[in-house]
Amino acid sequence: MEPMVVVRNLAKTYHNNGRAIQAVTNVSFEIGEREIFSLLGPNGAGKTTTISMISGLLAPTAGDATIGGHSITREPLAAKRLLGVVPQEIALYPSLTARQNLEFFGRIYGLSGAELARRVDEVLDFTDLRERQNDRVDTFSGGMKRRVNIGVGLIHKPRLIYMDEPTVGIDPQNRRRVLDTVLRLREEMGMTVLYTSHLMEEVQEISDRVAIMDHGEIIALGTVGELIQKVGEEDRLIFSVGQQTPPETLLAAFRGVAGVTGVAFERRETAGNNGEAVDGDGKLTVVAKRGRKALPDLLRLANEAGLNVLSVEVREPDLEAVFLQLTGRALRD
Ligand SMILES: Nc1ncnc2c1ncn2[C@@H]1O[C@H](COP(=O)(O)OP(=O)(O)OP(=O)(O)O)[C@@H](O)[C@H]1O
Ligand SMILES: [Mg+2]
Repeated sequence: MEPMVVVRNLAKTYHNNGRAIQAVTNVSFEIGEREIFSLLGPNGAGKTTTISMISGLLAPTAGDATIGGHSITREPLAAKRLLGVVPQEIALYPSLTARQNLEFFGRIYGLSGAELARRVDEVLDFTDLRERQNDRVDTFSGGMKRRVNIGVGLIHKPRLIYMDEPTVGIDPQNRRRVLDTVLRLREEMGMTVLYTSHLMEEVQEISDRVAIMDHGEIIALGTVGELIQKVGEEDRLIFSVGQQTPPETLLAAFRGVAGVTGVAFERRETAGNNGEAVDGDGKLTVVAKRGRKALPDLLRLANEAGLNVLSVEVREPDLEAVFLQLTGRALRD
């Protein structure tokens, strides 16, 4: 099957007061039909610029993209018909009701009469806004406005939808709702989704494949599993031990446990009441393949050595670790 989206060597240079900003450099990827594909990257990575080019809102400096086989630069009308866009900035008429907003944008796409009314009803149901359809949008919460915004992107029944950071600035419950909506778009409507976010957890949860962007380039691309394999399959087990210091013999014993590849003890200095440096709490970090399996042995050894473990945190490898390994920086700013 032909891919839904083909992106080839896209690049964008902005010119600001005579200064050139290379926002996107040579970006290429494909998205299959019914795939949920995410661009993950920190602020300023070039996600919105990339999405704007493949939605025909911004002319590329180089390269091209096709949607359903139609070039966004040479056949923009045919390409855009297949596409719904949910922009990063909410774009609604605040003094109109939810229903009126959907009707307005539906008319832009050429819908009218009974067809428009039916389509608006479907979208109100899908976004769970039927009860509030006749209230003005400026009386809505951020999460509800976001749902109207998503509805606008769906009004003409596109086959592909772009969502640019749709969970930014909304509470956890509404964030959960947006993620469920993305999954339902594929399950119930057979849609293809291009999603962007700087939040590792949500990208990891919903995506079939992920392109990690940094400084305008794709630095890694694959399924979540493939990307995580790049950093190996090792878990980190972090034991909090308070003011205690584990004996060297215990560290050596930890190193002998099956699966363990690294053991380190660290105590950070913190500021005391008068600003003087005092010993902070100690953390014993164990790197291990299948860390949960090693845990009972490690706890038994600690107990035998008289070390009182206050808490244990198990960190499985995740996209955060992938970004850290590739860039030497944390994904969160
Ligand atoms: N209109 C513009 N003019 C000049 N520079 C721009 C413009 N839009 C974006 N940039 C620059 O291009 C780079 C990429 O920005 P972009 O908005 O694509 O990043 P992003 O990944 O979407 O970030 P965020 O997570 O903050 O939304 C940044 O350095 C930004 O400052
Ligand atoms: Mg952006």
